[in-house]
Amino acid sequence: MAKLAVFASGTGSNFAAIADFLSRPEAQRHTIVCLVTDRLDAKVVSKAASRNIPVVAVRYISRAAAEDLIIQELEKYQPDLIALAGFMRILSTDFVDRYSTRILNIHPSLLPRHAGLNAIQQSYAAGDQELGITIHYVDHGLDSGPVLLQRCFARTSDDTEAKVERRIHKLEHEYYPQVIHKLLDDIDAERNSLDAKQFTRED
Ligand code: GRF
Repeated sequence: MAKLAVFASGTGSNFAAIADFLSRPEAQRHTIVCLVTDRLDAKVVSKAASRNIPVVAVRYISRAAAEDLIIQELEKYQPDLIALAGFMRILSTDFVDRYSTRILNIHPSLLPRHAGLNAIQQSYAAGDQELGITIHYVDHGLDSGPVLLQRCFARTSDDTEAKVERRIHKLEHEYYPQVIHKLLDDIDAERNSLDAKQFTRED
């Protein structure tokens, strides 16, 4: 079993897709241990509550204080992996280093194009002929960490911004849960092999 924490501040459609994927029989051994949010009024909160997933809500009076609180809570939940899914705060370098290589993000453009806010609108307005998503590890930069997966589609002549947005979200909901599931499986397998080694006799 491996444990996931999801950080989200918005609608929570990705959160719901991840939670639903992890409740499938083949993925049930992994758990979402908590949702971390900076907005108690966000729709994602009710999506967690209806699935009985604990919610850690932090007020960002200062980033340092909020992150201290998050770290304290994560000490309780001990996640193996953190998935950002529309968390509208930039994590400090200290926080990223603490959980280094264990934080993922999903971004609604083909990075490095259109990092930062409003990536779908930016991609559409720029007239990009290929649009898509990027799932990547989080590093110290803005949407700049090592890429795990990108998926794209070709723009069609009748694509409106709303249509493009729907297509991007569809890709997100299909691939983010799969990538997370695979990483949780890998973490679990590695832990099991370490456990097995402890019981292997040397003689
Ligand atoms: C997604 O488009 C994701 O790529 C971005 O934030 C959005 C979150 O949407 N990082 P939702 O709250 O999961 O619906």
